[in-house]
Amino acid sequence: MAKIAFKKPGNFIYPVPAVMVSLKDKSGKTNILTVAWTGTICSDPPMAYISVRKNRGSYPMLVESGEFVINLPDEKLVKALDYCGVRSITKVDKWKEMGLHEGTATVVSAPTIEEAPVSIECKVTQVLPLGTHDMFLAEVVAVQVDDQYIDEKDAFHMDQVGLVAYSHGDYMSLGEKLGSFGYSVRKKPLPKKKKKASDSKTAPQKKAVSKNPVGRSVKRSGDWKKTGSRKKGDK
Ligand SMILES: Cc1cc2nc3c(=O)[nH]c(=O)nc-3n(C[C@H](O)[C@H](O)[C@H](O)COP(=O)(O)O)c2cc1C
Repeated sequence: MAKIAFKKPGNFIYPVPAVMVSLKDKSGKTNILTVAWTGTICSDPPMAYISVRKNRGSYPMLVESGEFVINLPDEKLVKALDYCGVRSITKVDKWKEMGLHEGTATVVSAPTIEEAPVSIECKVTQVLPLGTHDMFLAEVVAVQVDDQYIDEKDAFHMDQVGLVAYSHGDYMSLGEKLGSFGYSVRKKPLPKKKKKASDSKTAPQKKAVSKNPVGRSVKRSGDWKKTGSRKKGDK
């Protein structure tokens, strides 16, 4: 493989999520800002970050409130995702322009975006000035998901949501599933042994352990929307 080194290094980690961050200032004014510099930074406590430039209309709102909601857009929200990243609260009401509605968060006072399938409520714990962007480190205090993606066994099907990724300036849908966490080392199930005729009379009957259809363990209490769930891929 012949590789060419760029003269000036830059950010080249792609794809990344592009998310719609909703927030509210002390006066009650709300806004949505698109953020691609975002991600998970700790499993326990669950923590996420967003990096925001000081000149964004949302910046003082974030500093003042110390709260925000990360809304994951699906394919239907891509236009709004882009719009909220190229227009400012200083000029327009993005909720109105994009026909979006404020939802109620369970813990923070910032609104969720009703139309977003996943809303992650965050409380800022630290602000790190890095250069062009300040990094807002935050604890995830609640997660809300669209219940149409939860099956009768309480498994949440993230693969059905139609999430989008951002790659080097483009919004992309996610393609085919290529594998799942740990599949490279997972042992293949042994071929089933043929039953002997005598087995059926004497062998004790074992109750089948139900496994959710995507093979993900979804440990949930009745109140899981407030606590979230840990899955196989969590690190
Ligand atoms: C795909 C995309 C990703 C963006 N990512 C960021 C980001 O990570 N941090 C940031 O400060 N601005 C980012 N922006 C720019 C802001 O969303 C944009 O300046 C927005 O208009 C600010 O809105 P506001 O003034 O209402 O806060 C992004 C824009 C787009 C389109």
